[in-house]
Amino acid sequence: MLSFISSLGSDCDALAIFVTEKYEYKGKKDPLPNSTVQKINSFLSILKRKKSEEDISFFDISDTQKCFVIKTKSKFESYWPQEKGGSFFSYLKKFKDIKKVCLYPDSLDFDKEKLESFFSQFIFGLYLKSYTFNKYKTLNKEKVNKKIDFKIITKNKEKIEKKYKYYNTIKEGVFLTRDLVSEPPNVLNPKTYVQEIQKLSKLGLKIKSYNEKELKKLGLNALLGVGQGSSNETYLVTIEWNGKKNSLKNPLTFVGKGVCFDTGGISLKPARFMEEMKYDMAGSAVVVGLLKSLALRKAKVNVVGVVGLVENMPGSNAQRPGDIVKSYSGKTIEVLNTDAEGRLVLADALSFAEKKYKPKFIIDLATLTGAIIISLGEEYAGLFSNNDELSKNIFKASVNVNEKVWRLPLHKNYDKLMNSTVADVQNINYAGGAGSITAAQFLQRFITNKTPWAHLDIAGMAFSKKAANLNPGGATGFGVRLLNNLIKEYYE
Ligand code: BES
Ligand code: ZN
Ligand code: ZN
Repeated sequence: MLSFISSLGSDCDALAIFVTEKYEYKGKKDPLPNSTVQKINSFLSILKRKKSEEDISFFDISDTQKCFVIKTKSKFESYWPQEKGGSFFSYLKKFKDIKKVCLYPDSLDFDKEKLESFFSQFIFGLYLKSYTFNKYKTLNKEKVNKKIDFKIITKNKEKIEKKYKYYNTIKEGVFLTRDLVSEPPNVLNPKTYVQEIQKLSKLGLKIKSYNEKELKKLGLNALLGVGQGSSNETYLVTIEWNGKKNSLKNPLTFVGKGVCFDTGGISLKPARFMEEMKYDMAGSAVVVGLLKSLALRKAKVNVVGVVGLVENMPGSNAQRPGDIVKSYSGKTIEVLNTDAEGRLVLADALSFAEKKYKPKFIIDLATLTGAIIISLGEEYAGLFSNNDELSKNIFKASVNVNEKVWRLPLHKNYDKLMNSTVADVQNINYAGGAGSITAAQFLQRFITNKTPWAHLDIAGMAFSKKAANLNPGGATGFGVRLLNNLIKEYYE
């Protein structure tokens, strides 16, 4: 977890201190050598004179040791310390020789509680940004696996450790989500995915998987139809966290799209960038990561995750455009486009979750439509809901962790566009336009018991070629922090 030392040694390649907007810092009786303190003071007076705008600056304490000065502010948004940690890690990466950094949080000019909270979040952000996925690299191993070692010098060890313990559980969840999303599709198929999820049972999560035979018996034919063109078997997995210790009554329920690879099926996708469709299981990976975090932090709440795991392939037994399937809800679906498969997976997973658990609410996550990337890009996830209170809570929780969502409408006129001439519903809207909304309208038809429900279309958020403040690029883990915060703030 965190690693502490009592004073600055010469083996540290760098020291990092925090200063106010006015370049002041606390702790005159420091565990730092006197000569270092003097050098810091004269560097700070230069910065002060220059009225430096830089958020992070540095100077050489000696030929082999640098000092980073990180500027803070007295008033900030709740997520700002994390962002600060992320940007410090990016800044450090520019210095190739730095292997060991000693952080000195007691320099923060905050009262104790604020100091502990700021610093534990700073480290959280720093670690989120430091994520790597390079298990498949065999060349230049040393360079690839180069890690920076962080040590902390503080008089508030116990408190910081205790605070950080919470953030570490969230980090573990985010990292699991990122790992699952990053795995190549020849490694992570529905079956191996089930095995990964089963490993979480040692944390006290109750995991049950349904194979094709069982799903057929239950009648989850919309989900099964998606997988029938693949030689990899389809699964549905339920993950239960019984943190309240009474029975699992009206749990908070999270449903995830787990398409381990989406070729489009017979409605085949173009070759260019098709490789990105390995992350079409990101919605399910957020659900899995979230449940891991909840179990690790022993959240006092009852939560269920339901994930549909399937591969969308154009095999000889694949589903055809024009096929009609009878979903678990009993409603029949005309499959006009086999590439609109996520909604077929979710249709059954949603009705199954609603019927089996009678949830307090259901939130589903899915890389559902390319259209949401056209509307909101890589900044906001699309939020759709039949319930204003749930919607507001999600929105507020998202602002607090800076995982942004934007609500888009549902309306009966959009709903009409999903009526089929030969079945109860069709899986695409032929009139064109509003692709993400009509997808959400389709999903809403499978919430049949008026359960408060929200759908997060995370197609633009789950994966990014570009690095961002809290991730190095690739799988982002978007959604774990948001949903954890939603639970903690409003339902725990
Ligand atoms: N998995 C895709 C959506 C997607 C697209 C996710 C780009 C991430 C990046 C989904 O299954 C899909 O193919 N949707 C179609 C729906 C269409 C056929 C109505 C789409 O968005 O083009
Ligand atoms: Zn698709
Ligand atoms: Zn898909």
